[in-house]
Amino acid sequence: MAEEELYIVYKGVYLVKLTHTPESLKYYEEFSFRPDDILIVTYPKSGTTWMQEIVPLILSQGDPVVVDTVPSWDRVPWLHTNRARHLNLDQRPSPRVFITHFQYNMMSTGFLKVQPRVRFAAWSHTDSLWKEQGVIYVMRNPRDVFTSYFHFSRMASFLVSPGTQTEFLNIFLDGKVIFGSWFDHVKGWLSATEQHIMYISYEEMILDLEASVTRMAQFLDTPLDSEMIRKITDRCVFKNMKKNKMSNYSLVPNTIMDQNVSEFLRKGIAGDWKDHLTVAEAEHFDAFYQKKMQDVKYNFFWD
Ligand code: PPS
Repeated sequence: MAEEELYIVYKGVYLVKLTHTPESLKYYEEFSFRPDDILIVTYPKSGTTWMQEIVPLILSQGDPVVVDTVPSWDRVPWLHTNRARHLNLDQRPSPRVFITHFQYNMMSTGFLKVQPRVRFAAWSHTDSLWKEQGVIYVMRNPRDVFTSYFHFSRMASFLVSPGTQTEFLNIFLDGKVIFGSWFDHVKGWLSATEQHIMYISYEEMILDLEASVTRMAQFLDTPLDSEMIRKITDRCVFKNMKKNKMSNYSLVPNTIMDQNVSEFLRKGIAGDWKDHLTVAEAEHFDAFYQKKMQDVKYNFFWD
């Protein structure tokens, strides 16, 4: 099916019609953030589901009950999807954790109003000081995002079929995919300097998950001893997380995500693009990337 049938346009960006409606977007726009809410932000295929596993485990200090019993999309919901309206989020205890694929310029006034003023301050249990809490932004090498997105577009019936890899490369680079351009997404969130944001990359998590969990726990002001960190890390490594039916999307019917075509937790590595992109495609990607990112000072892990 074509874009017109599967997508709606919101603030100039495609969203999936199946999960986004005028009602869900109104709910998102009117949503009351609390000062101690935690927001995870990712461009699609950058580690969303991984974070929906890690952050709840950090907050529960390694207690696996929530990740063993609640599907990832309910334990850390997307605020702009239909499902969020039915989760009684106003009754959840603090700190609540949400996730979004929205670009920075798509954030609601409710979010922008709360965050700059109190900077997601949260009462610290450890030293009775107001500590800053807030947004965790996860980035991934766009070449791997592209590869993951290509396979995901083949298996998800709510997405436009990707065509050939070369065709999808042009679509991806042009940002004609859901949630828009990777380049706009990353540049927008990197320039959100007034926000309290921890930046981390998928590649850092692959390289040293234990150190990444430690850094996130510190940012979230949740004291964890080394045993808890080891336990969380063990649960969240790819081969173990893949077995969790609350996180591997096996609860979703095949008609919506056909995991016989491509698994949701597909490879879980850094650098898979090297086995997929042709030399010409990789060169085209590089040239496009250089042009788009020349004004960005951030030291990306993959550069
Ligand atoms: S989505 O659709 O936007 O929510 O997808 P997202 O969860 O952001 O990204 C899916 C990719 O993340 C990989 N993944 C992991 N990698 C390593 N370790 C763990 N635990 C893990 N969990 C998810 C997943 O396999 C997808 O990447 P690819 O490259 O396709 O394997």
